[in-house]
Amino acid sequence: MGFDLEQLVSQKLKHTYALHEQYVNPTFVKVLRTIGFDRLFSGGDDFTMVDQDGTTYLDLLAGYGVFALGRNPPEVVGALSQALKMGAQLPPNLVQMDCSPLSGMLAEKLAQRAPEGLDAVYFTNSGTESIETAIKFVRCATRRDKLVYLDHAFHGLSTGSLALNGNEQFKEGFGSLLPGTIKVPLGDSKALEKALRKKDVAGFFFEPIQGKGVSLPRDGYLAEARELCTRYGTLMVADEIQTGLGRTGRFFAFEHEGIAPDLICISKALSGGMIPVGAVLSSRAVHKKVFNRMDRCVVHSSTFGQNNLAMVAGLAFLQALEERKLIERAERVGSLLIEKLDGLRAKHSWIKDVRGRGLMIGIEFGSPRGLKQKASWQLLRLAEKGLFAQMVAMTLLKDHRMFTQVSGHKVEIIKLIPSLTLGEPEVDAIVAAFDATLESCNKLGSIWDLGKHLVSHAMGRSKDREAVPANV
Ligand SMILES: Cc1ncc(COP(=O)(O)O)c(C=O)c1O
Repeated sequence: MGFDLEQLVSQKLKHTYALHEQYVNPTFVKVLRTIGFDRLFSGGDDFTMVDQDGTTYLDLLAGYGVFALGRNPPEVVGALSQALKMGAQLPPNLVQMDCSPLSGMLAEKLAQRAPEGLDAVYFTNSGTESIETAIKFVRCATRRDKLVYLDHAFHGLSTGSLALNGNEQFKEGFGSLLPGTIKVPLGDSKALEKALRKKDVAGFFFEPIQGKGVSLPRDGYLAEARELCTRYGTLMVADEIQTGLGRTGRFFAFEHEGIAPDLICISKALSGGMIPVGAVLSSRAVHKKVFNRMDRCVVHSSTFGQNNLAMVAGLAFLQALEERKLIERAERVGSLLIEKLDGLRAKHSWIKDVRGRGLMIGIEFGSPRGLKQKASWQLLRLAEKGLFAQMVAMTLLKDHRMFTQVSGHKVEIIKLIPSLTLGEPEVDAIVAAFDATLESCNKLGSIWDLGKHLVSHAMGRSKDREAVPANV
């Protein structure tokens, strides 16, 4: 009998959580059970997922933002099937001691979308690997060691990118990391100048919109940072791993700021979410400093970096993004969603702020107006910060079949990073779900039962130090 995927899934799907409990990550399983996210999804398309009972969910997390074209985008699925069918007719994969035709084609397409002069492309397999690459490139190109990053930054979780993580919780327990890193507050040009002034900083790493908390820099900050980096000879590295490739209503989110960085890191959506992939774009001058001699021609490389399926998926993704005009759609639908969610603030004082660009949106909660509501808010906060947002996310899932995430450790922020294929009907459904959920917060009842459930876990947790996950 040959391999039968359909049969395997139909036989084993029901054992998924047991398998994970035994062989993968039982702590994660426990957390999913605690917050009621232990669903068993059996299918999904575009921006929806279906569970085993046939219930459909609106997916506003999109695999941490990878499914910009939606799940199973026909263009990428078609391109991958074509590649697999071509088999021996496709230029051979991973020859290694050749130049891969497909990676050359994808590099050309990416360079055409980048600011002028950023036409050297290095391929990776993930976001964190793109950041590791950029760390090495800026150090090698400048012959300097130090790196500057922003408070609350998230650039990945391998040891180099972890050294640039602005949330200390992620670093705990992993020993000493890369030395010579300097953290500065977002928006503070004076602090940045102080860090750069000695001219010993290789790179300044930033997310145009921070994934943790969906924080936007104040107007003009990135232009000031650009000027400071140029003045002190520091290379400016844009982490566009989450914000890039159309999500914010521009191909790259730094385009909103009218600046051009020196290096750009991308990943996530580049393959339509179907194959791990990433890339770093830089100037040829930077690239040449790394690969400066024949004996150093592969001094930085990765076995799977230019694999055929990732390259094919990348080419199909870029074409579909353009043909379906999804960047324009993200801007239009995202603006509408931000406007309508912001409109709920007048009715629900639980909402402190709605912010974002395109389809990267943060809804921040704060202390409400009413006395009774204030008391409930404070009770949750006393147990642990972030529980209110978690309670809202749980209710959105349970009562409205909407999949969202709390955006960071101990923050009262829900983040929406859905597929760029979302339309006006989904905007109305999302707004109605937030409206109903926040309305239920004004009453005693099931939502506060969820709150009590979370409080009891938060209290118990101080013993065993487990935490509700802060999604990336
Ligand atoms: C801004 C940003 N940088 C880097 C990363 C790390 O990417 P990966 O998880 O592919 O390593 C992420 C992941 O969420 C991210 O959002």
